[in-house]
Amino acid sequence: MSAMQVLRDRREIPLLDLSAQYVSIKHEIDNAIARVVSTSDFILGEELGLFESEFAAFCGVRHCVGVDSGLSALELVLRAWGLGPGDEVITAANTFIATALAISSTGATPVLVDVDSRSCNIDPDAVRAAITSRTRAIVPVHLYGLPAEMDTIHEIAAEHGLAVLEDACQAHGARYKGKRTGSLGHAAAFSFYPGKNLGAYGDGGAIVTDDGALATQLRSMRNYGQKAKYVHSNKGYNRRLDTIQAAILRVKLRYLDGWNALRNRHSQAYSELLWGASVGLPHRWEGLESAWHLYVVRSPFRDQMKAHLAARGIASGLHYPTPIHLQAAYADAGYRKGDFPVTERLSEQILSLPMYPELDRGSLERIAEAVLSTPGVKHAPLQVLTPRPLAPGALRAI
Ligand SMILES: Cc1ncc(COP(=O)(O)O)c(C=O)c1O
Repeated sequence: MSAMQVLRDRREIPLLDLSAQYVSIKHEIDNAIARVVSTSDFILGEELGLFESEFAAFCGVRHCVGVDSGLSALELVLRAWGLGPGDEVITAANTFIATALAISSTGATPVLVDVDSRSCNIDPDAVRAAITSRTRAIVPVHLYGLPAEMDTIHEIAAEHGLAVLEDACQAHGARYKGKRTGSLGHAAAFSFYPGKNLGAYGDGGAIVTDDGALATQLRSMRNYGQKAKYVHSNKGYNRRLDTIQAAILRVKLRYLDGWNALRNRHSQAYSELLWGASVGLPHRWEGLESAWHLYVVRSPFRDQMKAHLAARGIASGLHYPTPIHLQAAYADAGYRKGDFPVTERLSEQILSLPMYPELDRGSLERIAEAVLSTPGVKHAPLQVLTPRPLAPGALRAI
């Protein structure tokens, strides 16, 4: 596209485009929904069992338990592990609040720790420093689709006898040293919120694990604590994944690797188009394949950039504008501004650019042009955060 064409194009560019995706697979989706409706197989139906087997195989683990959201997936695992008041669970300070809410809902205390400034993922040194005699588990979050530093996290967990629950809600199909997210902890939680890389047409989630006893317990917990009809072995919940959603997810799972490959291609295009500007770009990491759920740039001129993009019909997002420790919901936790400097600085500088498989080259060029023409951006001194020195054996940016 020529510079003039880029400037003249005034079509709105959304942050993600779920209707474009639906149009591309409409026939299969409509058939999948009709199949469930015509058999009235709505609750714990055949398609759910099939989806659970297929998603477990996709992740490279033995079991998958479908639930009603990512928050439920996290919460039910922590409850199944027996966590409650007096226990501490360590997680990343820059995650979506649901990670902390899942911990709080069990009665345990979320212990937030700061993140690495380059990967935006939990800083293993900060995890180590936060361990106390009450720590029971670590919940690393694969934020924006990039796997966390799992080997180091497992080393720490093994030293202290802690459980590791992956928050993989943003990382469907990502890989860490060849292994899929979902197979990197003792259990993993996924969200199928519509905007995720693998999204349902409503709320949904799943737990994946190699632990058969845990999976059996979770199947009971999600279904009123039943082990057989009207036989209740625990005080459970109603947290099931609907069969209709499972049928939709089965269709979409077949496309996920292809869609993620397109996201990866778009991320490369963004990096090429924005290279050399005074904008912090996401790194690529040796041995890691991000799912590119989000493409997040950084700039001290973030707010101006967001407004500049909006004026040109380009949507952008903030993931997330106010960190958990500064939210009213966690005012009772005793955190203060300044507790997590990297997280706080990131929250002021990050901007998520449109990212979805159906993005075309013309849109990518228009978005890049809008970023680069934000007043102040091109010639601004690069005030992104200075990274910490790499520990021996730590993952390397490439
Ligand atoms: C990192 C993270 N954890 C947890 C969740 C919660 O998932 P859900 O919205 O399905 O409850 C989300 C999704 O929004 C998320 O991004």
